[in-house]
Amino acid sequence: MPATARRAAGPATGTVAVMTTDTVTLTGLRAVYGTGTRRVTALDGVTTSFASGTFTAVMGPSGSGKSTLLHCAAGLDRPAAGTVTIDGNRLEDLGEDELTRLRRDRIGFVFQAFNLVSTLTAAQNVELPLRLAGRRPPASDVAAALAAVGLADRARHRPSELSGGEQQRVALARALITRPAVVFADEPTGALDSAASRQVLRLLRALVDDHGQTVVMVTHDPTAAAYADRVLLLADGRLADEFTDGITPAAIAARIAEQATDPPGGSRPPAHVAGEPSC
Ligand SMILES: Nc1ncnc2c1ncn2[C@@H]1O[C@H](COP(=O)(O)OP(=O)(O)O)[C@@H](O)[C@H]1O
Ligand SMILES: [Mg+2]
Repeated sequence: MPATARRAAGPATGTVAVMTTDTVTLTGLRAVYGTGTRRVTALDGVTTSFASGTFTAVMGPSGSGKSTLLHCAAGLDRPAAGTVTIDGNRLEDLGEDELTRLRRDRIGFVFQAFNLVSTLTAAQNVELPLRLAGRRPPASDVAAALAAVGLADRARHRPSELSGGEQQRVALARALITRPAVVFADEPTGALDSAASRQVLRLLRALVDDHGQTVVMVTHDPTAAAYADRVLLLADGRLADEFTDGITPAAIAARIAEQATDPPGGSRPPAHVAGEPSC
């Protein structure tokens, strides 16, 4: 259920936030990799928004632009054209320092491959974003973040001593320690078995239901997508479909099948080639 206004609480970012019902707005987003014959248009004019306190699943075939969309929306990459507004801040108007601060304080990012630092304990991984910002969070905050993901008793374990599901929950605790307005997750359950996936998905759902945070999750799994309030389907860098009704695994799978057999605009562009990231 969309909230009518975002939470006013949260760490100071040094940037001006305005009250809005949308935590994230994307307008005419274009992203291009490479140049010349190696040029790939990864996003081709995507306009959408993510309302405060909602959970959106982003789906679509491999190569359709899902990760690029998430990276641009999270300020990890700059789009070639279009605007991203997060929490009232237009990312293109921010300098590198301001963008870094906004990313650190208001945005959480969770990767398929967890991206934990192998030499650090779970607790040290969780406090890392704040440490990098020159802050030392109280041990009780770190313990609370680990407890929130059910890992109170794993604080001193290193990633290699944890299961995949536990590692992803440490990554989630790390993303949540700053209480971000929005959490982006790129196939967060892609490397997990179904029991571990369920735990991670329930935690993401609880962020929205219990704390009014906004979650945007890329997944290719209709069962995972069924935890969301809304599904976006990308095809060839464009928004091909979006729905909020019929959010069940079977209905989502049917809708994807329909999309695959009846793509908008007909023919697909030529096969893509790899190049320098420049989105
Ligand atoms: N670093 C890169 N260099 C060149 N092309 C890229 C790069 N990253 C992604 N692409 C291309 O951009 C398109 C979209 O990729 P991506 O956003 O990763 O898709 P998805 O996450 O949906 O699989 C694909 O055609 C992919 O090959
Ligand atoms: Mg991807």
